[in-house]
Amino acid sequence: MSQQSITISDEQLKQAAIKVINQEYTSVQPTAELPKQTNFLRDIPQTIHRIGNDIVNWSIPTEISIVEQSPSLMPLAQRLFLWSFIYGIAPRRYLEIGTDTGGSAMIVMSAIRALGLDDFQGVCIDPEFRLNQATRDYLGESFTFIQSKNSPEAMIEAAKISGLFDVILIDGDHTYDHALIDILMAIPYVCRGGYLLIDDAAHTQVRDAISYVIENCQLIDCGFVCRHSVSSEVEIPSGRWQGEEYRVGGLYLLRKPL
Ligand SMILES: C[S@@+](CC[C@H](N)C(=O)[O-])C[C@H]1O[C@@H](n2cnc3c(N)ncnc32)[C@H](O)[C@@H]1O
Repeated sequence: MSQQSITISDEQLKQAAIKVINQEYTSVQPTAELPKQTNFLRDIPQTIHRIGNDIVNWSIPTEISIVEQSPSLMPLAQRLFLWSFIYGIAPRRYLEIGTDTGGSAMIVMSAIRALGLDDFQGVCIDPEFRLNQATRDYLGESFTFIQSKNSPEAMIEAAKISGLFDVILIDGDHTYDHALIDILMAIPYVCRGGYLLIDDAAHTQVRDAISYVIENCQLIDCGFVCRHSVSSEVEIPSGRWQGEEYRVGGLYLLRKPL
């Protein structure tokens, strides 16, 4: 029996490509900011893999349940990325610019606990910490808090505590000038091969600051690692924002070359 071959013309290929490009993926709203069922991450079942004759019994660390419980403003996808990223690269020295209620710091700490690292040192810079006692207890001795706006002095103080950082999370003032200065100030304090993780990268001003850094600084552009952003209506002094849709959320990753 002869097989019928299907040939696709260049024109058909072109039309298919145009269709893909025109699809409006970004109009799809995130369906769930947080799981509907509480504590679902705590009850993740064990995973058992059979590789040849070997049985690999690996369970997701129970510490991951903090991802759901932490008071972070980050959407769920971002929290999961942050936890998995920290778990994957196992940083010893972590700096956070913009901590608020300590949600992202808790997520980082829970991944560090899951790894069992006892030489981890975290530093947070924020002019207005809103940490409750339970969060302070969870972060324990592993974190130091510098109550100040980010500045060259604050960065020096942070580096005196830990040395150069493996990961710096930037989530402070989201205006263009401040976001840009935060990133530029962080570059000398991240170690070679270390990472800058920038939150709210979907925010227009933060996004522009990141674009400036990509064009002008010698960093590896690892890209938009988490695109889960949420739209937000914003009042500006001259009335409601009329331009581009205002979005927050989204994580961008830059790496200092080795
Ligand atoms: C979005 S919150 C941080 C949320 C936190 N990273 C989390 O995900 O749980 C932003 C924080 O940045 C702080 N902030 C504002 N301006 C700052 C500055 N110049 N330097 C450092 N932190 C700043 C605010 O006080 C606020 O607590």
